[in-house]
Amino acid sequence: MHTTIIRLDPKKPDKKKIGSAAQILRKGGLVAFPTETVYGLGANALDEIAVKNIFVVKGRPSDNPLIVHIADKKEVYKLAREVPKKAVKLMDKFWPGPLTIVLKKRDIIPDVVSGNLDTVAIRMPSNKIALELIKQAGVPVAAPSANLSGKPSPTTADHVVDDLNRKIPVIICGGNAKIGLESTVIDLSTKIPMLLRPGRITAEQLVDELGKIRMSSIVYCKKKKLKVFRSPGMKYRHYSPNAKVILVYGSREKVVPKINEIYRRYKTQGKKVAIVGFDDYVSDLTFVCKDVDELGKVLFDKFREFDDEKVDIIIVEGVKEEGFGLALMNRAKKAASIHIKV
Ligand code: TXA
Ligand code: MG
Repeated sequence: MHTTIIRLDPKKPDKKKIGSAAQILRKGGLVAFPTETVYGLGANALDEIAVKNIFVVKGRPSDNPLIVHIADKKEVYKLAREVPKKAVKLMDKFWPGPLTIVLKKRDIIPDVVSGNLDTVAIRMPSNKIALELIKQAGVPVAAPSANLSGKPSPTTADHVVDDLNRKIPVIICGGNAKIGLESTVIDLSTKIPMLLRPGRITAEQLVDELGKIRMSSIVYCKKKKLKVFRSPGMKYRHYSPNAKVILVYGSREKVVPKINEIYRRYKTQGKKVAIVGFDDYVSDLTFVCKDVDELGKVLFDKFREFDDEKVDIIIVEGVKEEGFGLALMNRAKKAASIHIKV
């Protein structure tokens, strides 16, 4: 299939060019587009055949439901049959932005979108291109991350082209994703709000608005052995690079020497070792971040880059599990086969 690549200035996107992509969406085609979190692979959420195509193109298990993206808060009432006060509060506070809210769905949502659940996940993104695309399409847009299953979520247009060129009709290239990790997902279809996936909107921010939230077992309470798979996505193996990922976290004074020690050990075995962290480590393949936000933004990009460079070991410096650090550690822990706490 021929893929039309539309390159847009993220600050001043050409509305006409977005219009041609919106037309494709309306006609049942797939369009990859930037959002502030990661790139998405969109289809008209009300068109069952178009949505089925997303699963085919990505190679995604069909019982893993999709997030429906909207460009106007009012659309929520057309998609959800109950919109509790708590949801309105979060929508007012955090939309447009990196927060997905799970609500009881209306029948208009095809089963293929909700993975046969009684709920639908809804998000209004803040990225200008995404908003304009959804607005011009005039339909809600179902979109998972625009990667092939087995790859990390794409945070640059290049990642999307690598994964989806010649597989879909349109890829909109609109700069790097500002956040770099997928949206926070909160389930408000139950009595007590449940955080299903941590993200840039933090657990602390949600607690401020809602008073009380529960964390999913996978996110927080692994040791308690609570097998609550509320978010179907959580039961699937998460992406981890071909390289072995080693996550080192704990007190900073101990983390830095520990990482240097691990680096030297593998290096003497003749391995190619990369490090992503905050200190200027000894490795020639080090990516130094200035803060947690930057580490979140580059994590998936570095995983792809180091795999391309046939790195054997990637050492990731962990952070405190608070604020955005909770989301970062959630993704890093899933990718790492070795977790070292010092
Ligand atoms: O930042 C993001 O959320 C990106 C951009 C494109 O918006 N999208 C994204 O989609 O990460 P995806 O499909 O990779 O992740 C969606 C997550 C999955 O874990 C899925 O199981 C969960 O949301 N989800 C979707 N609908 C749900 C529902 N009705 N109930 C519970 N979890 C749901
Ligand atoms: Mg994904």
